[in-house]
Amino acid sequence: MRQTDKPQTEAGADQRRPRYHFTPPSGWMNDPVGLFFSEGLYHLYYQHNPYAPEWGAMHWGHAVSRDLLHWQHLPIALAPSEPYDSWEAGGCFSGSTVLHGGLVYAFYTGVCGRDGQAYQTQCLAVSRDGGTTFEKHPANPLIQPPPGVDPAQFRDPKVWRQGDAWYMLLGARRAGRGELLLYRSADLLAWELVGPLALPDDDFGNMLECPDCFTLDGKDVLMFSPMGSESHKVVYLTGRLDCQKPAFEAGHVGETDWGFDYYATHSLKDGQGRRLVFAWANAWTWMPWWNNWGPAESWCGALAMPRQASLLPDGRLAFAPLEELARLRGPRQCFPIERLALGERRELSGVDGLCCELLLELDLARTTAQSLLLRLRSGQGCETLLRCNLAGHQLTFDRTRADAYGKGVRSCPLRAEGETLRLRVFIDCSSIEVFTDGDTAVMSGNVYAPEQACHIYLEAEQGEVVFAGVTGWDIK
Ligand code: FRU
Repeated sequence: MRQTDKPQTEAGADQRRPRYHFTPPSGWMNDPVGLFFSEGLYHLYYQHNPYAPEWGAMHWGHAVSRDLLHWQHLPIALAPSEPYDSWEAGGCFSGSTVLHGGLVYAFYTGVCGRDGQAYQTQCLAVSRDGGTTFEKHPANPLIQPPPGVDPAQFRDPKVWRQGDAWYMLLGARRAGRGELLLYRSADLLAWELVGPLALPDDDFGNMLECPDCFTLDGKDVLMFSPMGSESHKVVYLTGRLDCQKPAFEAGHVGETDWGFDYYATHSLKDGQGRRLVFAWANAWTWMPWWNNWGPAESWCGALAMPRQASLLPDGRLAFAPLEELARLRGPRQCFPIERLALGERRELSGVDGLCCELLLELDLARTTAQSLLLRLRSGQGCETLLRCNLAGHQLTFDRTRADAYGKGVRSCPLRAEGETLRLRVFIDCSSIEVFTDGDTAVMSGNVYAPEQACHIYLEAEQGEVVFAGVTGWDIK
């Protein structure tokens, strides 16, 4: 057991620890929660066990940033302390914040144990100092599980203001099915259940974790992470939220990320009006007690890079890497590769295969190959394959031989339309994120290969690949 009785203060040097993705100072992290932007500062809270690099009684860790690239760790914002939020398999679960009257209101799920089962209620903590210290409200818990709802599956309040009321959306399970419950309040304290939100008929699993809801370019967007769904991992819906019915009328249902490790999305709107989506760069299959594995001695868990969401005319969303990332680039390296003949393999040497950004621009009109294959984190018998199957319109992320842990292949549709296909790949010590098809085909995966697995190769399959550009940057 790696549990200590003191919060660990510093995670030791570990080559697998990401360099430009957010990680906790030490211990465990999962979901980003309570995000807000105020006075030039991005506030990030996150599900945190400061005592061990494995999931345990949940706290809200806290960090702030001015540029989304460098984060300053601040004291823990919420810790289990009350009968309603203290339990070894509970604590202060995920939630959201709103700013009102100069105060920060943090809504979270308090989880305690009753007869060995989790009992989840919705609670409030208020900060008078801009989000650093919080006081739990004396009226807690504010919301008890309603009749028919499983009290162990009733969590993750997302609160926002609309018209002259406050609304809260919660994930829940009723009779084995996942649902979202909508509540309304005039004062942020007394909450009335409006009802379960009607959703389009789809396979949304048995619990809808971490709902988020916002308006983007005139449309409403709903996001959540369904548990036990075969067809979705982190789903988004665009359309119209009707708070009276209540219903979400969706024009489009899509995936925020098609890879392995992207879960529990939560977003904020920043000072430039951008909608930035954060997520835990992991998935529950990585829970140490499932795999008897944590990536390091002293830390576990990271955030995916925040992504900017935008709405496309057909109702889909694009998720672009942050513009800010360009500031981390080292000198630009243009690789003089114009074409790859059938079966030809070229190494991109000179770029740091453990921590870099790649931009590949494919000349689609002149490319005859069925696919372009990227071999990443290659060496010592390991490699992670990204295959752009242009003929079959599919992008695949293959971790079969990536490392000692992650297995499997994930794929997503690849339209590859127009003259040029731009593929951006971000590698950061133990993660790979790929963006293409105008940022609608996005895949993330963690790779815990040894340091020596740092080679990058490009290869053409069944024909010739012609490039309009091959560029790389080390990331500082
Ligand atoms: C999602 C989640 C949330 C919950 C939190 C607990 O990853 O299961 O539903 O609030 O993690 O840490």
